[in-house]
Parts: sequence; structure tokens; C-alpha cells
Amino acid sequence: MIEVEGLRKQYGDLVAVDDVSFTAEPGAIFGLLGPNGAGKSTTIGCISGLLKPGAGRVRVLGHDVMTEGPLSRRKLGVVPQELALYEDLSARENLAYWGSAYGLRGSHLKKRVNSVLELSGLIDRAKEPVKKYSGGMKRRLNFACGIVHEPEALLLDEPTVGVDPQSRVRLLDLVREQSKNGATVLYTTHYMEEAEHLCDRLAIIDHGKIIAEGTLPELRAMLGERDILRIMGKFDPNIVFETLSQLEDIEIVQADEETITLATPQASTRLSDILMEISEEGFEVRETTLTQPSLESLFIKLTGKELRE
Ligand SMILES: Nc1ncnc2c1ncn2[C@@H]1O[C@H](COP(=O)(O)OP(=O)(O)O)[C@@H](O)[C@H]1O
Ligand SMILES: [Mg+2]
Repeated sequence: MIEVEGLRKQYGDLVAVDDVSFTAEPGAIFGLLGPNGAGKSTTIGCISGLLKPGAGRVRVLGHDVMTEGPLSRRKLGVVPQELALYEDLSARENLAYWGSAYGLRGSHLKKRVNSVLELSGLIDRAKEPVKKYSGGMKRRLNFACGIVHEPEALLLDEPTVGVDPQSRVRLLDLVREQSKNGATVLYTTHYMEEAEHLCDRLAIIDHGKIIAEGTLPELRAMLGERDILRIMGKFDPNIVFETLSQLEDIEIVQADEETITLATPQASTRLSDILMEISEEGFEVRETTLTQPSLESLFIKLTGKELRE
């Protein structure tokens, strides 16, 4: 189990993580979904002991990260966003390094290194220096280094960024396998689809704050069966607000001079009415986009913006 309570971390005046709380359970994948700069890596850093929190409490497998640091890290695996590999060493040597750092020795170490080389599909090229590897292979090795000591809790910080589709599938399978074997997995990503397909529970984070948390069905229910309709053009937000709020079943999520964001059931059937109202006020519409109920539309609903790379 990974327990985070009221976690806060500041860099100077910038509050990177602001009162974040969640619990990741064993045998499940807990997702932390948010755009770049949301505070995902900072949260991971505070759990792994790399960063000192400004406030709050973090426990890994029952051990307090601040007061029982070494104990909390003993059965923790970390796969950092930045590759933690020695480029001149081979995959096997990198794994042996990380394995012995976690206290594995002798034949057990050797067995574990072989096992994760096999799992990550690197066994055939295990003797080559890492600098000869493709990006996807490096990501897979980075992952393998984080699980070589069979951790009971695993922190994965955007482990699939920039990998080829084949490596991605392999990595996601490996993540699932870890949780199936009973590990507690914390998985950060800015990819909606990954979060949707992989995670048993999700917290959506933006500007250091968790803005929604739950299982996928719970999060979907927050939005209801509503689509998100974005209208781009040139508007007077006050007039738009007044005009559109007279229509039934329409929530104005956000409106400024260039974009209007609405949440409404079956937006496609209402589009012409809405556009008519807007053009009757003399505003110009350049583009419309419709997002059906999904994590993406929930994110837009909660923040008024899209979750982009
Ligand atoms: N070492 C640092 N010094 C100052 N600001 C930082 C540092 N690390 C991260 N930040 C800032 O903290 C915020 C959260 O960053 P980060 O946790 O890396 O977000 P994410 O991993 O979700 O992209 C960002 O605004 C980032 O610029
Ligand atoms: Mg990050």
C-alpha cells in the first residue's frame, strides 16, 4: 500500500504539489493522470524519498518515508521519468548494478537479472552497451531495473513516453503483471487512453491539486452522459453566457473571447440550435469540436482546458 496524506511541496514560491492525498492498494494500478507540470514527478519524488516534502505524510508498505526512510525504500521499485541507466554498460551490467544496490547477491541476483531480461524482451541483446539501444529498448531496461528486486510497491513515472508501439504494449503488459502478482503500482501519465485502459483507480491532477478521484465508472458518472462541445471564434463572453444559459440542459464550462466550452447531453443534435443562437448575436464561429463522455471530456469539464502533451 502507498498512502499519501496532505502532501505539499514548494520550489521557492511555486507550489508544485498542493495538499495531495490518495491511497494506492496492493494488487491494483493507481493512476495519476495530469498534464506536464501538474506535479506528478514531484509527488513520485516525495514518495521515493528523493525529495523532502514541505508538509504531509507518506507511507510505503506501512513505513513512514520521513522517519523510516530505508525501511520504506527496501521493497519499493522506482522507474523514473528520466532514464537511470549507465550508457557504457550492458543491460545485464545495469541490472546487476541495480539488483545489488537492492541487496541481491550471487545466484539469486543472477536468476533475477535473467528473469527480467527475459520479461522485457532484452535477453538477446543483453551484452550490448546501452548506448546502442533504441529508445524503446532503453525504456524497457529502465523498467526492468525498477523491478529486478521484486518490489512490493512500484512507482512508474511516465514509463512509456516516446516509445515505439511494440515496446509500449510490452511495457503495459509488464505493469499489469506486476499488479497481478500483488504489487501496489502507482502509475503516472499524461496519456488519457493509457489511464483509461490500465488503471483500476485514478486521480486527476492539475496545478499540483487532485481535482477528481475514483474508478473509471465513478469518474464517468461525475460527468454524466454529457458531451463536451467547444466552439472557437470571436465572442463576447458575457453575452454568450446570457444567451446560452437560456437553453435547456446546457452547462457553460468556460467562456472567453475565443472559446466557449459547453457540457450537454447529445451535443450533436443540439449543435445547430446553439450555433444559431450564437450567430444571431452576431458572433463569428470558426470551428467546433465535440468530445464524447470520456476522461478527456471530464478533464475539460473540470479545468476548462484540454489535456495535451
Ligand atoms: N527542481 C525544480 N525546481 C523548480 N521547479 C520545479 C522543479 N521541479 C519541478 N518544478 C516545477 O514544479 C511543477 C511540477 O513539476 P513536475 O512534478 O515535474 O510535473 P509533472 O511531472 O506532472 O510534469 C512544474 O511547474 C515544474 O516546472
Ligand atoms: Mg513528470
